Amino acid sequence: MGIRIYPPITNASGPLSVTYEELERIARSATGAIVTKSMTHCPRQGNPEPRLWAHLDGKIGSLNSMGLPNLGYQEYAKLIPKLKEFGKPVIASIASAPCAHNLPPVEQYREIAGAIEKAGADALELNLSCPNLEDVPISMDPQSVRAVLSAVTRDVKIPIGVKLSPYNNVPKLFEEIARTLLDFEIAYVATINSEPLTLDIDLKTRAKVIRPNDGFGGLGGPAVLPIALAEVHRFYRFFQKHRAQIAVWGVGGIIRAEDAIKHFLAGASVVQIGTLFLWEGPQAFERLWAGIQQWLTENGFSSVEELIGQVRDA
Ligand code: SIN
Repeated sequence: MGIRIYPPITNASGPLSVTYEELERIARSATGAIVTKSMTHCPRQGNPEPRLWAHLDGKIGSLNSMGLPNLGYQEYAKLIPKLKEFGKPVIASIASAPCAHNLPPVEQYREIAGAIEKAGADALELNLSCPNLEDVPISMDPQSVRAVLSAVTRDVKIPIGVKLSPYNNVPKLFEEIARTLLDFEIAYVATINSEPLTLDIDLKTRAKVIRPNDGFGGLGGPAVLPIALAEVHRFYRFFQKHRAQIAVWGVGGIIRAEDAIKHFLAGASVVQIGTLFLWEGPQAFERLWAGIQQWLTENGFSSVEELIGQVRDA
C-alpha cells in the first residue's frame, strides 16, 4: 500500500521534529508531509551534550549523536490529531531503545505501532537504523528486521516505511536485507540514515566536536550525497528487478535542487531533508521545491515522475 506525498519533499525524521512547536513549523512549511522524530516506548532525554555539531568545517555536513531524545509515544499519540488538522500526511517515525521496563525491541515496535495507528497517523516509518544507541542497529541484522516487520505488519493497516542504514561496501548484507523486505507489504524504504561512526575535531579547542560515544556520531549533509545516491539506486534497481511495489525515498546530502534531482534520477520518488533543515529552517522546503520545478521546466520535464530512476549509464 503506497502513500502519496506532494510536493515529494518531507523533513527527515530527526532534526527539529521533537516537540509540537517544531512539528507545527514543519506543518506550516512547504513539505508534502510531517515526519515526527523517532518516538520510543519511554520518553528519552537522549545523549549528553554536546551531541550535535551542525556545521562541520567547510559546511560539508553535520555530525550528531542525539540518542533519540523524544516525548515518548504516548505524547505523540495525543499530538497526532492536532497535526492532522494541517491537512497533510502525518508520518510517525518509530524506534526501539533501552527502557526501564525491558520490553523486547520487537514488542516495543508492535505496541507503539498499534497505538499510533489508532491515534490517526497516515503512515509509520520504522527507524531500524539509529546509529547512536549502544546496540547494533536492527537494520544490520536480517533476522531482527524480519522479526520487527512480522510483528508490525501483522496488525497495522496503514502504509509502513522502513528507515535503513547505509550498507556501503557490504553487498551481501544489502542483498539479504533487500530480500527480507520483499516478504512484507512495505510502502517505502527511506535511505540513508546518517553515516555511522564518523568523527570531527574542533581545531580551536583541539577537542572532538561531540561528547557521546567517545566523539563518534552519524554524519549527514553534503558529504554523504554520493553514499545516499548509491543506496537509493541499488534499492531502486533491486525492487525493479524483483517487480516489488516498494518506493525508495532518498535521504542524504540534499542542499540544492540539483541534489534532489540526482536522487530522483537514482530512483527516489520522495526526498527527505535533514541537515539543510537544520541549517536553513522551514523555508528550505519552499526554496528546494521552487528550484526543482525550475529545473524540470528548464530541462523539458513536466513532473518529477518522469525522472524517477532515469539515470543513464556512463
Ligand atoms: C538520534 O537521535 O540519535 C538520531 C536519530 C537517527 O539517526 O536515527
